[in-house]
Amino acid sequence: MRGLTVRRGGALAGAVVIVMLTSPSSFSQEPRVIQVTAERFAFTPSHITVKRGTIVELRLRSEDTNHGFHIVGSEFNTIIPKRGRGDGTLIFRADNIGRYTFECSKMCGAGHTFMRGTLVVED
Ligand code: CUA
Repeated sequence: MRGLTVRRGGALAGAVVIVMLTSPSSFSQEPRVIQVTAERFAFTPSHITVKRGTIVELRLRSEDTNHGFHIVGSEFNTIIPKRGRGDGTLIFRADNIGRYTFECSKMCGAGHTFMRGTLVVED
């Protein structure tokens, strides 16, 4: 298994440890696919709950312009292409219980900084 463990300090010290899957096929567990829509200036759903240990595949689709998806305190960050240009995808294993904020990471207009949501990893 090749992977990347992300550890970050700061306000979320110790809270964010997520193992990135560079090769999901090397895991026997099927990912839990969650569709997320981005549209000025919100994600739908904006609250995502998963069980610890779940391999999560976020399929990120925009209904308008380019957006981004960043899990705060981690290196998970991707562009969500504008409508009609396909999906952005993030795959990770939710290893640690906690509450994580995700945010839009691409300037998309006046409400950009309000474009946020919560990922909860529970036991
Ligand atoms: Cu959406 Cu910035």
